[in-house]
Amino acid sequence: SIDQRVDELMKKMTLEEKIGQLNQYTGDNTVTGPLTINPNKQQEIKEGKIGSMLNVIGWKYTRQYQELAMQSRLKIPLLFGLDVIHGHKTTFPLPLAEAASWDLKAMELSARIAATEAAASGIHWTFAPMVDISRDPRWGRVMEGAGEDTYLGSKIAFARVKGFQGNKLGDLDAVMACAKHFAAYGAASGGRDYNSVDMSDRMLWETYLPPFKAAVDANVATFMNAFNDINGIPATANKYIQRDILKGKWNYQGFVVSDWGSIGEMVAHGYCNDNKEAAEKAILAGSDMDMESNAYRFNLAQLVAENKVPMSVVDEAVKRILRKKFELGLFDDPFKFCSKERQEKALNNPEHAKIARDVAAKSIVLLKNDNQILPLSKETKTIAFIGPMVKPKRINHGFWAVDLKDVDSTYIVSQWEGLQNKVGKKTKLLYARGCGVEDMSKAGFQEAIDAANQADVVILSIGERWNMSGEAKSRSNLQLPGVQEDLIKELQKTGKPIVILINAGRPLIFNWTADNMPTIVYTWWLGSEAGNAIADVLFGDYNPSGKLPMSFPRSEGQIPIYYNHFSTGRPSINEDKVYKSAYIDLPNSPKFPFGYGLSYTSFSYGDLKLSKTKMKDTETLEVSMTLTNTGKLAGEEVVQLYLQDKFGSVVRPIIELKDFQKVKLQPGETKTLTFVIDNEKLAFYNQALEFKSEPGAFNLMIGSSSSDIRLSANFELIP
Ligand code: IFM
Repeated sequence: SIDQRVDELMKKMTLEEKIGQLNQYTGDNTVTGPLTINPNKQQEIKEGKIGSMLNVIGWKYTRQYQELAMQSRLKIPLLFGLDVIHGHKTTFPLPLAEAASWDLKAMELSARIAATEAAASGIHWTFAPMVDISRDPRWGRVMEGAGEDTYLGSKIAFARVKGFQGNKLGDLDAVMACAKHFAAYGAASGGRDYNSVDMSDRMLWETYLPPFKAAVDANVATFMNAFNDINGIPATANKYIQRDILKGKWNYQGFVVSDWGSIGEMVAHGYCNDNKEAAEKAILAGSDMDMESNAYRFNLAQLVAENKVPMSVVDEAVKRILRKKFELGLFDDPFKFCSKERQEKALNNPEHAKIARDVAAKSIVLLKNDNQILPLSKETKTIAFIGPMVKPKRINHGFWAVDLKDVDSTYIVSQWEGLQNKVGKKTKLLYARGCGVEDMSKAGFQEAIDAANQADVVILSIGERWNMSGEAKSRSNLQLPGVQEDLIKELQKTGKPIVILINAGRPLIFNWTADNMPTIVYTWWLGSEAGNAIADVLFGDYNPSGKLPMSFPRSEGQIPIYYNHFSTGRPSINEDKVYKSAYIDLPNSPKFPFGYGLSYTSFSYGDLKLSKTKMKDTETLEVSMTLTNTGKLAGEEVVQLYLQDKFGSVVRPIIELKDFQKVKLQPGETKTLTFVIDNEKLAFYNQALEFKSEPGAFNLMIGSSSSDIRLSANFELIP
């Protein structure tokens, strides 16, 4: 068995070789050009002092590194890790955008394709999915998660892990997934990346931990800890988080990698005197692999000699890592993922582009279509496509795309190309850039106005620069940058119908536009098929079905903003402000709520039936309802089921997502949907942190968004 093989190998290993397994370095070769492995690293690999490399990409280069490892005494293969966050060569929508699809199968499939391409490029391990809940769009890394909701985020975490890992580790199309960043990284104070987190245990358990638990349930191979301190202790050395919860209560058998340099950064945190103390605290707390701090490499042997770190702790970490190398089959064939033919085939598979186009279309959210300008007619004579996002190609990848330097960008479909592909020869397309994203010049306005004046319809593509969201891309101001909103105002004066496309990696604030422009489509960053997917939606070849996975604030002053808040003792019902929990200068509600998104068709909800109105915690309650497509086009609706526990031994949110179904209906078609409520959906963490339900009244709400409840009923949990 694998355990026996691990034990046999362990017996042969020196302490230095063991420490080598815990050490991860970044590659310093460029992907084009000749392979230049730093001579020191070459030597260290040959001496068995490195267990894993990150950022080495491609069959050729991973093979060259692996050959060095095969010159080491025990020939222990290297693990190759990479941030394959939303696609490898074929890129998919940003994870936050994809979450807007609420389509778990689509998300699993996109991870599957990413894994297929990455594994064929020599990669064994992706540092994804990021499962951090965040209620703060100032935080640039919201783009990388699944949004603000714990239930949706947990389902997505599970689907993504399954997608990356496929049937089983060791298959040639599977990569190890990594649930990150453990834990509570998304609650960085003030939305500032890497900032401190101070959080009650109940909030941690109820809101931030469940997506990680879902990843464990999906058998995720690895975890990554986080840069932040949490309740005064850096996550990297947080024994409570890593040993007690992850490896203790959850009995997690995979391994934990630190974040880049996060062991060494504990010195800057003011938590450790030096790298040596950082190494001691990190390994004792359960961080198994050191990414780029060099703290284990140079200190662990001495720490063991001084009896500060027991040998058994080192052994446990090494075994966890070796087990994965065996599961991947690397001891049987260290080069199994290095195949030129497989890489070429996987990176040039036209099926992948089709899937990326489909997932991208599903991720688009239609925010407004007041005058039913959309879908556009393919017979439209003249279209002016305006804005800084129209022509560039690579921007559509968005942040965290793999930098495949030897791959040209021709395969990425720009928004302009997508439109060209869609319309026939009879449609004339005009282009003007109008303005830049951030620069304040209005010099291009006139050209844009001239184009608009000649057109029947204007499409205006604006937003945030692709790298304004992502790691270390926190913003205090979430308004549309530069003069883009001024450009909208000028174009509005032409009187032409205008479709606004907003490209961004987070919820932005665009109140004037939302109040004055009738047609708004949120396109996020959609990946390599962005142009085609956007055109599919604009012309009705795909009827939009995305729903926001985060609340869109009216002002930065509302942040943190989230739909599942508590009532308070003075709730501001109907935005009442008189001595209520409210702002005197702003409604409490978001501009666009969680779960919101329009379709070109309409749906009616009816016939709510509960199998009983009283249930015991050992029983289940069946809820059924009918959904009818009352419009003229086929379309999909995300039917959302929310609960409210009306009274609890600790206060409960006014509304919480507990289930959803995405359903496709033809015009006039009706379907009956059934949901099952069980005790798990009713339970919560009480003051003693026990996850339990409490007898009492519940409110059940079914709707099209968190603030568009169409059906409701009460039921009671009885002792
Ligand atoms: O995986 C990432 C992590 O999310 C942020 N720091 C760097 C890691 C490796 O690139």
